[in-house]
Amino acid sequence: MSNKIPLSRRAKKLNCVLDFMKTYNIAALAGDGIGNEVMAEAIKVLRATEKKFGFTLNITAAPVGWAGIDAAGKALPDATLALCKKSDSILFGSVGLPDRDPTIPKEERPERAALLRLRKEFGLFANLRPVKLPKVLSHACPLAKERQGDGIDILVVRELTGGMYFGQPKKTEDIGGGNFRAIDTMVYTTPEIERIAHVAFKAAQLRRKKLTSIDKANVLENGILWREVVTRVGKNYPDVVLEHMFVDNGAMQLMLKPTQFDVMLCENMFGDILSDEAAALGGSLGMLPSASLGATNGNQTFGFYEPAGGTAPDIAGKNLANPIAQILSSAMMLRQSFGLNDAAAAIENAVTKAIEAGNRTGDIFNAAETGAKRVGTSQMGDAIAAGV
Ligand code: IPM
Ligand code: MG
Repeated sequence: MSNKIPLSRRAKKLNCVLDFMKTYNIAALAGDGIGNEVMAEAIKVLRATEKKFGFTLNITAAPVGWAGIDAAGKALPDATLALCKKSDSILFGSVGLPDRDPTIPKEERPERAALLRLRKEFGLFANLRPVKLPKVLSHACPLAKERQGDGIDILVVRELTGGMYFGQPKKTEDIGGGNFRAIDTMVYTTPEIERIAHVAFKAAQLRRKKLTSIDKANVLENGILWREVVTRVGKNYPDVVLEHMFVDNGAMQLMLKPTQFDVMLCENMFGDILSDEAAALGGSLGMLPSASLGATNGNQTFGFYEPAGGTAPDIAGKNLANPIAQILSSAMMLRQSFGLNDAAAAIENAVTKAIEAGNRTGDIFNAAETGAKRVGTSQMGDAIAAGV
């Protein structure tokens, strides 16, 4: 009887059964500021998804950032790192508290000692930041309606383990007379550019097949090499239209005509800056998820998933933060690391439904909008969890 089912359907059925039995180990590092609140909502939504789709998520929390320093004297406690190493993926909140950061040596501060260290430790060179302005949130976009065209939908692909954030030497020298010289080094090698370019071209193939590579080739050695290598890699993707743009022009074009962009490929610092700019076009930084990926191992990709925004200490603990970036990051995790595409789509649809139903955290609230109701972090999480 079962022999009559076509092979592809049988394979699909088998996959469903395997998903059903499968357990995924997730390290949940909420960190500081709004990290705990938004992480709690993401876990709430993941639990609802787990129930509906029948897989098992083994989620273990561990401290990082100032929470790590307070708990174990280090921004990345050994036990937290050990947990990450035996997990299938990391769901991360955010770290750093501007009031406390200057009180310890800069090398020990959470951004460097935890976040950048984890990116390096796990070789997470590819950072994907999808910016999408939902139609109903067009009021939250700082651009006039006519500049929003049929909708803003940009994927920023940011190189994450090279460039100025990691290049050596990196130091501040005393040059006497009360003066100092600060040095950061921007450095990229051909293989580093090649591998991120492949990620960006592959992403473009699955989208609108346009890639804008950002550089500063008119001034920087790094920019010249970047442009040469990306052009060469592009020969393998004849179906993708490649264009190059200087970063200063890219920043301006994002404001003038964001609809011209599909995938933007950036080195580390340019991607950091342009992704925040692009996030504002998507309504709020509180809506921008991200996936940081390393090399694929078999059919599972170890990944690190975090909102692109920061700890927002001014609104922390007040049930004001927008949890959507964290929730969408967890959807990216299900898709990119575990291949749970239906579950990921269910979360993304639930977010859209919650927004369409008028739920607004403060960052996307506009009193003039009819049908919009201002909600807190946990109410937004409830609405999304109920919709998966
Ligand atoms: C980001 C953040 C981090 C970065 C900071 C917190 C170190 O701005 O993920 O965009 O610069 O990468
Ligand atoms: Mg940033």
